[in-house]
Amino acid sequence: MLEHGGRLQQAAQRYEIPRERWLDLSTGINPIGWQATACISTASWNRLPEDEDGLLEAAEAYYGAPKILPVSGSQAAIQALPRLRGRSRVGVPALGYNEHAHRWKQAGHDVVPVAIADFEAALPGLDVLVVSNPNNPTGDRFAPDQLLDWHARLHARRGWLVIDEAFVDSTPESSVARFTDREGLIVLRSLGKFFGLAGARVGFVLSSQVLLQNLAEWLGPWALAGPSRVVAKAALQDQTWQKSTRQRLRRDGGRLADLLASHGLKPSGGCDLFQWISLPNALAVHESLARQGILTRYFGATPSIRFGLPAKAEDWQRLETALSVSRGVLEIAESARDEARREARQ
Ligand SMILES: Cc1ncc(COP(=O)(O)O)c(C=O)c1O
Repeated sequence: MLEHGGRLQQAAQRYEIPRERWLDLSTGINPIGWQATACISTASWNRLPEDEDGLLEAAEAYYGAPKILPVSGSQAAIQALPRLRGRSRVGVPALGYNEHAHRWKQAGHDVVPVAIADFEAALPGLDVLVVSNPNNPTGDRFAPDQLLDWHARLHARRGWLVIDEAFVDSTPESSVARFTDREGLIVLRSLGKFFGLAGARVGFVLSSQVLLQNLAEWLGPWALAGPSRVVAKAALQDQTWQKSTRQRLRRDGGRLADLLASHGLKPSGGCDLFQWISLPNALAVHESLARQGILTRYFGATPSIRFGLPAKAEDWQRLETALSVSRGVLEIAESARDEARREARQ
């Protein structure tokens, strides 16, 4: 199993701090998600889900895509897509959502980690390119024209361009959803991030009819639970909430970037839902915050940390205080190390 954010129980045990005292900033999930409590009927628990419940129409209107398949979180599609192709050379971001590489490898493909700056150069040697737009955790973004050009070149040799748009909802103009009737262009969307409905496990695949039929056949009937379908439909139709949430996330994303920068942690990248900082002592910062009950996501392969958004005023305040403490602790540790080095040299 790969590492993921949101493992609060594990952190509670490791740092011996009760679960309810943690501030969990380890994911890029909107902490003020769409409120799902009121609309679940008894029938949606008891009856088998039916396709003709209006979810597809709501998704088509929201995504502006011609053909859509609801899935149990975009993770379900990340696992299934590699099973729908013969052995291929698959380029994945060298630093990205690592489930992509893992699942293509698991299905027997040749996976090539590619630095984002090298996508263009790598393209001629690939059958499939997986891009996250924006990329998690680095926040790199790709212009739709660039993506459509890559798709056309891959498609010319029966290749695929898979675009993971899990974090695109706050900047919908960056999405290529409306072009997904082009064969070999596959877009993955999630209700887990912007909508904050990660527990409902709802995602969508936007692609050509043939690919969606193959994928549906692989996933089998009732891929998405009845109550999740009800919640998803209502959230996708709630344009008032979507508009105010976009504005709030833009404001809060900027606020988080400024707060981190003012504590010596200038983000290397990010988007409205998270900020990412690459720094040599990332582990020390991560652990210092964890000892104060603040969970961040640490990436060991490229020493770096990702911060999700705090929700309430007291959470922002708590983060600010903890960042000051961590900075102090790290500065003391650094000057002690310098001192020890000086003494060793004398
Ligand atoms: C970039 C990216 N894509 C996809 C997923 C899977 O999300 P879900 O299965 O909840 O839709 C994640 C989860 O963290 C992610 O970060």
